[in-house]
Amino acid sequence: MRILGIETSCDETGAGVVEDGVRLVSNVVASQAGVHAPFGGVVPELASREHEVNLVPVVARALDPVGGIKGVDALAVTYGPGLAGSLLVGITFAKAAALAADVPLWGVNHLEAHVAALRLMPEPPTPPLVALLATGGHTALFDVPAWGLYAALGETRDDAVGEAFDKVARLLGLPYPGGPALEKAAANGDAAAFKFPRPMLDRGLAFSFAGLKTAVALKVKDIGPAETARRRDDLAASFQAAALECLTTKALAACRLKGRRRLAVVGGVAANERWRTALAAAPVELFYPPLALCGDNGAMVAAAGFLAAARGETLAWEAGPAPALELGA
Ligand code: KG4
Ligand code: ZN
Repeated sequence: MRILGIETSCDETGAGVVEDGVRLVSNVVASQAGVHAPFGGVVPELASREHEVNLVPVVARALDPVGGIKGVDALAVTYGPGLAGSLLVGITFAKAAALAADVPLWGVNHLEAHVAALRLMPEPPTPPLVALLATGGHTALFDVPAWGLYAALGETRDDAVGEAFDKVARLLGLPYPGGPALEKAAANGDAAAFKFPRPMLDRGLAFSFAGLKTAVALKVKDIGPAETARRRDDLAASFQAAALECLTTKALAACRLKGRRRLAVVGGVAANERWRTALAAAPVELFYPPLALCGDNGAMVAAAGFLAAARGETLAWEAGPAPALELGA
């Protein structure tokens, strides 16, 4: 079965085709990073408008290798969580396209899609495993006893870790999106130069990054702009060390708690090389999807659509966006 997946939950417009839930046929993403960069974060109304402009050409390119919409057996679309207006663009388009092509439409949870991206790896992991989702919008741990089954183990109480990287990068005068720029600056800094908190480190599997971000903001205010510029790399390294220690500690605690030997890290923050090096020393088998599948994309939605189809999760004609949708709660 060939599924076309459509993703518009945040600031990437994505479409991709996947065969039988595991074979990647195409994956086309139009990033809006340039549109939102001047604002230092995603502007919801601008995101919706960009999806509206980009979706048709992105879908057309994703369908090219299969000869157009007739080349797929079903559609899948992200219906939550995410920005309501952005989700609505994808959902409305998918409903119309599924109706016109007379194929089923499966509703996909964006969080499941990030996990399902693992199935598109050249050598995918086999569950049981623990998945850590670390993006600009989410930070959450899931136990995955089998594909399509999820138990939520812990999530962030406030900011997502990628969001914290982006906000701290902004405080330090680094460009948006901040994660990669901050990692680069941190490589030249001393991670022990500033003592920043590791919020909730010993308390269960939930995360918190707002306090850490505030601690950096207070330090920046305290030392002033000239000293912040001079010590930028030390501030970046010290923040990064605190954030990554929280992620690593909780991910490994989750593996121990569930008795899992495999840990999969998904989402944009998985690009962080410093973190990968730290995790490599851990007593677990590690899996990272290739970067093109880590960020938001349509292929992961198609992969999750296959799992949703197995559960019979048709997107109802009257269904709308579910901005606060959860997974495995
Ligand atoms: O998964 P993703 O591409 O999009 C969603 O948020 O869904 O993740 C983007 C996030 C951004 O916050 C970005 O700053 C962060 O991932 N990121 C990084 C790195 N590369 C991207 N964070 C830390 N280190 C990196 N090297
Ligand atoms: Zn995402």
